This record gives sequence, structure tokens and C-alpha cells, in this order.
Amino acid sequence: MDKLVKRAADDIGNAGNVAALTGAGISVESGIPPFRGKGGIWEKIDPMEFAHIDTFMRDPVKVWDVLLKDMKEIIDKAKPNAAHLGLAKLEKMNKLKTIITQNVDGLHQMAGNTDVIEFHGNFAWQKCMKCGNRCETGKVDLSRIPPKCKCGGMFRPECVFFGEMIPPDYLARSQQAAARCDVMLVIGTSALVQPASYIPVIAKENGAKVIEINPERTPLTSRVSDYLVKGKAGDVVTDILAAMESS
Ligand code: APR
Repeated sequence: MDKLVKRAADDIGNAGNVAALTGAGISVESGIPPFRGKGGIWEKIDPMEFAHIDTFMRDPVKVWDVLLKDMKEIIDKAKPNAAHLGLAKLEKMNKLKTIITQNVDGLHQMAGNTDVIEFHGNFAWQKCMKCGNRCETGKVDLSRIPPKCKCGGMFRPECVFFGEMIPPDYLARSQQAAARCDVMLVIGTSALVQPASYIPVIAKENGAKVIEINPERTPLTSRVSDYLVKGKAGDVVTDILAAMESS
């Protein structure tokens, strides 16, 4: 058995309170492309052009056409993979208390986790920019772009665009979860986007072990994280759970 898998299994086994910070990498095995790196969405389109609130306000048709319509189709088809299901199992084992996710795909909740902070909002709901009415994305009529509410106002996804603030209560709850955990799992994030990438620093400063799961090194590796278990999230989480069960 990989030494670091065993070490992670022991660290989680000894912890009373585990938290996780997840990013796009955890959903790659569910068929959702990441933002950065090989096959990443931002390799094809410029996030400042297509995912910035100013662009959305100026040209919503362009943002819906190029980014949001595709996102909806991909997310609609996606199902939780072994990593999401493994985290749900860790919650049932009373280890994992909170997931802070940068993802908007809803897969952690679909897998069965109950305390999920959607740091960058979610794509499951649309909100009318005029009257505030909310509508499930699946029920929004996309035959006309941008989709409109009954009142004539434009719908926008409940995601956080670049240039927008993280909802203050999400930020506060994430900081609390990071400060009180004994172990933080950092799975599938490039840790390049603030303030999410600061969450593991808070965990570390409050005495938690920080364990990264990622096929690649990140700016957190060796500086903030205690160690990196290299590999795909689905494989590594499955191996860690197997090691916990066999010990
Ligand atoms: N398992 C685990 N990690 C993986 C896998 C996999 N199968 N495949 C790729 N990764 C890793 C990559 O090595 C990379 O470190 O996932 C990470 C994906 O990084 P990003 O695409 O930058 O995703 P994320 O960190 O979630 O991005 C943060 O940026 O544009 C925004 O709002 C968007 O929430 C997003 C934020």
C-alpha cells in the first residue's frame, strides 16, 4: 500500500473533525472538465471575457451562448463519482463534518453529503435580476437566450462570477469549519483562486493537518499542505477508505 495513503487513512482515523475543500478536479471523473490545465475550460475561453460579471451585464447573450448553455448540458448529465461517494461515506462514518466546494455542480449533495458550503454558489438555480424570483435551472426555458422570468427580467445563475463577492455568510461558515477541523482534505483544486485557496491556510494556522489529493502539485504543496497524495480523486479516496477499513 502507498505509504501516503496509509498515512492519510491514519490521520483521518485519528481525527474527530474532518473538513474538505474541493475544486473542479473532483468532478473530472464525472465528465465535467476543469477550468485550468489540460482540457480546461479557460484554455479555450478567457474567464475575464466570459465569466466576469461586467461581461455578463454587458452581453448576457454571449455569456449564455458560449459558457452557460454548455455548462448546463454537461452538469445535467453528470453523476457523483467514487470521490464524491467516498466523501459521503466519510460523513456517515461521522468523520467528515463539512465540505467547502468551489464547484457549482451539486454533486456532493447528490452523493449524500449534508453540510456543503457552495463557496462559488450553484448552477442548480436561476434568479431573476428584476423581481428576485428563483427557478430551477432545469425548468428554465432556454429556447430564448437570455432566459427570462415571467416578469420580463433576465435570469442569472446563482453562481459567483469573477468580480463578485463570495456571500459573506458562506465565507464566515467556511472560515469556522476550517478553524475547527483536525484534518482538512484539499481535493482537486489548483488553489489559484482567492479567497478559497486561503481556507487551508486557516486550517493549518489552527493546528489542522492539511492533506492534498491531486495528480499535480499546487502552490499549497509543501508550504501549506502536510503532504500530497498524488492521483485521481476517485482512486485516492477509494484507496484511503479501503485502508481505513482494513486497519
Ligand atoms: N482528481 C483530482 N484532481 C484533479 C483531477 C482528478 N481526476 N483532474 C485534475 N485535477 C486537478 C488539477 O491538477 C488541478 O489542480 O484539479 C485541479 C483543477 O483546477 P482548476 O481547474 O483551477 O479548478 P479549481 O481550483 O476548482 O478552480 C477554482 O476557478 O475559474 C474558477 O470559479 C472557478 O471555482 C473555480 C475556481
